[in-house]
Amino acid sequence: MCGIIGILGSHEVSPLLVDALKRLEYRGYDSAGVATVDASGRLDRRRAVGKLINLSDRLVHQPLPGQAGIGHTRWATHGAATEVNAHPHQSGRVAIVHNGIIENFRELRARLADLGIQPQSQTDTETVALWTAHHMDQGMGPVEAARATLSQLHGAFALAFLFEGEGDLMIAARRGSPLAIGHGKNEMFLGSDAVALAPFTDRITYLEDGDHAVLTRAGVQVWDAAGQPVDRPVARIDVGATIIDRGGHRHFMAKEIAEQPVVIGDVLNHYVKGDRIVLPEGLDFVALDRVTLVGCGTAHLAGHVAKYWFEQLAGLPCDIDVASEFRYREPPLSDRSLFVAVSQSGETADTLAALHYARGRVARTVGLVNVGTSAIARDSDTALPTLAGIEVSVASSKAFTCQLAVLGVLALKAAHDRGRIDGAGLAAHLRDLRAVPALLAQALALTDDCRTQAAWLAQARDVLYLGRGALYPVALEGALKLKELSYIHAEGYASGELKHGPIALIDGDVPVVVLAPHDALFDKTISNMQEVMARNGRILLISDAAGIAAAGDGVTATLALPTGGGVFQPILYAVPMQYLAYHTAVAKGTDVDQPRNLAKSVTVE
Ligand code: M6R
Repeated sequence: MCGIIGILGSHEVSPLLVDALKRLEYRGYDSAGVATVDASGRLDRRRAVGKLINLSDRLVHQPLPGQAGIGHTRWATHGAATEVNAHPHQSGRVAIVHNGIIENFRELRARLADLGIQPQSQTDTETVALWTAHHMDQGMGPVEAARATLSQLHGAFALAFLFEGEGDLMIAARRGSPLAIGHGKNEMFLGSDAVALAPFTDRITYLEDGDHAVLTRAGVQVWDAAGQPVDRPVARIDVGATIIDRGGHRHFMAKEIAEQPVVIGDVLNHYVKGDRIVLPEGLDFVALDRVTLVGCGTAHLAGHVAKYWFEQLAGLPCDIDVASEFRYREPPLSDRSLFVAVSQSGETADTLAALHYARGRVARTVGLVNVGTSAIARDSDTALPTLAGIEVSVASSKAFTCQLAVLGVLALKAAHDRGRIDGAGLAAHLRDLRAVPALLAQALALTDDCRTQAAWLAQARDVLYLGRGALYPVALEGALKLKELSYIHAEGYASGELKHGPIALIDGDVPVVVLAPHDALFDKTISNMQEVMARNGRILLISDAAGIAAAGDGVTATLALPTGGGVFQPILYAVPMQYLAYHTAVAKGTDVDQPRNLAKSVTVE
């Protein structure tokens, strides 16, 4: 979603704000803007539609002096991506930047209209600036006016306020959306995440839900949701872990795909010692009667794969749901169940809300997250890091396979705890899992073949993906990847479901990608493939050498994955899903790392 940065500095802040926004651009890239207070106390702003480069260009021609400033990169929720809707929003003596949604903005606007105050933009955000300016016009000081406005707001938000004539003051507030404060030497910072603040400081304070903070260069004072002053701890972050570069690759996504053998190896080193699984205290599956997995997008699909593992390996009933449905369905939960929230960012609003719903209703909550300092990590009973390292590309790749690896470990622990596999069985499955990094390294060699096939997919209007068993959610992931990166319509189906309707879509123009490892389900999937070919459908078969040999003639193209990995083969099959989407996007010339309309971290409902 939107990214926020604020600096009370000792140098000109505009270039620093823009640099920090570059590190936040993954949160949204519809428009960007900065506001500063200069040496004379003048509050001014610059805004530009589109990528950050447009704001940088504007600042070259229209510089913005000042050593105090706020900045914003926007993912539009209310109002189109226009300059007038871009942040910061300024009214009178206040400018604000916002991440989240002010749910009662219509009511707030109506009351402003009664006062004769009209907004300039279509955004929910501007009402915050208008009300704060109004309170100041009524005689309140900046802190009092900001507090009065905050008490009027409903919804989820992170906000930063900057004031005319106040070069040493910034106010921050957090309800739902994340916000971190950075401590410098006679400088203070705030940002949507620690990654944005890493170039400035390694000392970070995370605001808690409902907090607001008053920052000056001398330090920060924080008040909690009840309005009581509180001390929030200062944590040291590992700045090295926040280094962001493409490592010689053309796109972050290419780099992140290529990193998978190494990061999956890191996951296994962390969670597996010899033939033992090492998990935090309290993760005991003996007394559990169910696992509920929740996530959004790719994280949801990782959970969907794990459902097969929990049920088949551990005999443990497992529910999987998209977080946005789960949270409002009021599902009955067993107090003997385990709830697992799967999320790369650990910030996704729906997944966080689902976790909050589950707390107190289940035996234990687990946050399976890539960002260890995130809200989902902090609000879960147990946080399990997925150790993928920073994932910059909006399309998830290595985070997905790392989620699968951790979920695989969890499912094996469940199987062993519940007596479904003995020590020897566990050792055999762990051997399969430990083979995965090397197999992934071989799978990466498919990049050239995927580029060749992408030339075909790039011409298509629709593409179907078919898979069976645990490969079905991988087919769904393949379709999701292709949609988000290349804007080609794609759908994933369970192979056996095709004949119940979707087969009507088949003609010679619709490529059908079939995922069929040579396993117990192979013959069934190949029968479904034949049904497609009998209707002139053109098949791209992804299998192993034995599967490709057994599939017979008639397929248009094949991609051969190495054999191995046992039940954890879905991790390998993710690679061609990623490369097909990646190369199709490159062939079509779409923006691979920042596809249109998307954001890396979705902190609104
Ligand atoms: O940060 P999260 O894992 O909670 O994000 C969930 C989804 O928004 C995310 O997986 C999204 O679907 C990706 N863009 C897919 O590539």
